[in-house]
Parts: sequence; structure tokens; C-alpha cells
Amino acid sequence: MKTADIDESTPSTPTNGETMRAIVQDSYGVEPERVLRLGEIARPAIGDDEVLVRVAAASVDMGTWHCMTGLPYAMRLAGFGVRSPKAPNPGRALAGTVEAVGNDVTEFTSGDEVYGTCGGSFAEYASVETSVLAPKPANLSFEQAAAAPISGVTALQAVRKANVQPGQKVLVIGASGGVGSFAVQIAKAFGAEVTGVCSTGKTDLVRALGADHVIDYTIDDFAAGEHRYDVILDVGGNSRLSRLRRALTARGTVVIVGGETGGRWLGGFDRSLRAVVLSTVVSQKLSMLASTENSDDLRALRDLIESGQITPAIDRTYPLGETAAAIQYVRDGHARGKVVITM
Ligand SMILES: NC(=O)c1ccc[n+]([C@@H]2O[C@H](COP(=O)([O-])OP(=O)(O)OC[C@H]3O[C@@H](n4cnc5c(N)ncnc54)[C@H](OP(=O)(O)O)[C@@H]3O)[C@@H](O)[C@H]2O)c1
Repeated sequence: MKTADIDESTPSTPTNGETMRAIVQDSYGVEPERVLRLGEIARPAIGDDEVLVRVAAASVDMGTWHCMTGLPYAMRLAGFGVRSPKAPNPGRALAGTVEAVGNDVTEFTSGDEVYGTCGGSFAEYASVETSVLAPKPANLSFEQAAAAPISGVTALQAVRKANVQPGQKVLVIGASGGVGSFAVQIAKAFGAEVTGVCSTGKTDLVRALGADHVIDYTIDDFAAGEHRYDVILDVGGNSRLSRLRRALTARGTVVIVGGETGGRWLGGFDRSLRAVVLSTVVSQKLSMLASTENSDDLRALRDLIESGQITPAIDRTYPLGETAAAIQYVRDGHARGKVVITM
């Protein structure tokens, strides 16, 4: 069924009589239109250290796809649910307004505009732990703010992990996507000379993000020629480690963030592990990022945004009922920057 049609069969067990529209997922699957449905369900209860957020907007990233499909299988063993998803809603990033606060919450109050991460943001309300929540950047709309919590924080942690310094030459592979569009801007904010790698139709976007140079990977090979980079942030394309090393200075740093291989068991994680092992015997530093969601980094990202150095790149917005189409759009590789769901 189309997610736009509310599924009357959705089990609804309101604890206080109040319900909400939300995306519901009972099983893993690779076809969003078959796996997701729009339901009328109980509003979430909040714990003592949580707040109830009235969600204005949420965003889609490749992690949404992984949560929906349970692929690669390794993530099921990592706690996402072996046979079916533990979280019945794959949305994780949100922006909205605090509706109610738990007994132990002191830093937020009803009416605050916030952004952060949770276990079910494709919904009108979400319960959010304060450890993964921060005040919304004042200069952003809710749609823009919802784009930032996962992709922006991941990019910030990657730039920090690479210890990017002013004047360094930084290559961002996958510069036109969710994480990459933030990584280009953050590396520029750290003072680097940035080269972005993307496909032909997105070179204009990567230039507009502030990249000093753009490589269209359908025409040019970043590893060919004499050019060497101090830092490579590898977000897309699954380049072989030998190619990454060839494009790197003798003591340069690679941070592998991701890249979709389609591998059902490890999904490219083996490449990251090989990089870490190889790093122990070569002069270059090869590392992988496992991003962590936290309030401190959301606040640091907010500061960068409010200073005008970073603006989330929004490609499209979809209404909640068309969440399945939004996820498919990202999965199909069409997105230029971020895709947002509005309530
Ligand atoms: N390590 C972590 O903690 C962490 C956190 C978040 C995300 N991730 C991972 O990071 C990856 C990116 O996530 P995302 O949300 O940013 O995905 P996304 O929005 O779909 O972006 C993917 C990017 O990869 C690019 N790409 C595809 N093929 C390429 C190639 N051959 N050469 C260069 N670039 C290529 C795409 O560029 P074109 O469209 O121009 O081809 C696009 O910009 C995913 O694998 C995700 O799972 C990891």
C-alpha cells in the first residue's frame, strides 16, 4: 500500500488517549512502499531524562535505508534486531518543538526549538533523550535543521578525526551527498583547500558548497596524476585502499566514513577494517569513523551554522505520507545534499 493512506489495521494502544500519525515498520525489507505504512498510533511516553518533541521535520540518510532493510546483516547482530527491527520507525534525525519534559530534565523547557536524534522521527511526536538533543540553530528553518543531526555531526567528527588544519589539501569523496555536503563546508570552515568528488550532474552543487576544486568521477580519476592530498574523507564510491593511498601524501590521513557496496553481510565494513590493520605498518594514517550521536557535537555544529559557515543543502522535501518515496529517492542516488520529511 502507499504510505500516504493511513492503515486502519495499525494496532493503536494509546496510553493517555492521544494518538499521532507515524510511519510504522514491522519487518525488514528492501522495498520502502511495501515495508512502511502510515499509521495512527499512540504518542510515545517519555522517561525522566527525555523530552517529548512535536516533530516539524525529519530527514533521510543512508542509515535510514540500513535501518529499514536490516542490511548489512552485521547491524542486526549489533543490536538493531535479528529477525525484525527493534525500532518500528526508521527515522532518526529531527527538528521540532519541545512539548513536554521528563522529571529530571533541566536544560529544556516546553516551547524550546530543538534538533537531534531519536528512535523514530518519521512521526508527529518523538521521545528524545536530552543527551542527543540541542537547541536548534536560530538561523535555520525546521526543514534545514532536521537535515543536520546525523549527516552534519558525522561530517564534523570525520573532519576532527582527520585533524584537518588550515591550508591542508582535503579531498572529499562523495561530496554531493548528505555527509559529503556537510564535510565540504566543515573542512572549508577549518581552513582547508577542499576538492570534492562527485558525479557530473552534481558538480554545480559541490562548487556552490564552497569546494575549491571539483572532480567529476565519471571523467577524471582522483588517484591519477601527481596530485597528493593531506587528508581524504572517504564517504562514497568504495575506492580500493591502494587508490586512496596513491592520492595521499606520504604522511597523509584517510578517514573512511562509508560507501555502499551492496554486500549483504558486512556492507564494505571489511574495507574499513583492512584500512585500520594496514595503518599499523605504513607511514600514512588510515582510519575509519564510527560516528556517535551526542549533544556536545550538535551544539558545536549549531555554532558553525549560526556563524554562517555552514548551511544544510536541501534537495527535496516530502510530506510524511510519502516517506517511502523519499527513502527510495536517496537509495537511488538522486539526492543532491539532503532529503527532508515534513509533518
Ligand atoms: N561511519 C559512520 O559513522 C557513518 C555515519 C553516517 C553515514 N555513513 C555512511 O556514509 C555513506 C554516505 O552516507 P550519506 O547519507 O551521505 O549517503 P548519500 O547522501 O547517498 O551520499 C552518497 C554519496 O556517494 C557518492 N558516490 C557514489 N558513487 C561514487 C563514486 N564512485 N565516487 C565518488 N562518490 C560516489 C554520491 O555522489 P553522486 O551522487 O554524485 O554519485 C553521493 O554524494 C553511507 O555508506 C553511510 O552508510 C557512515
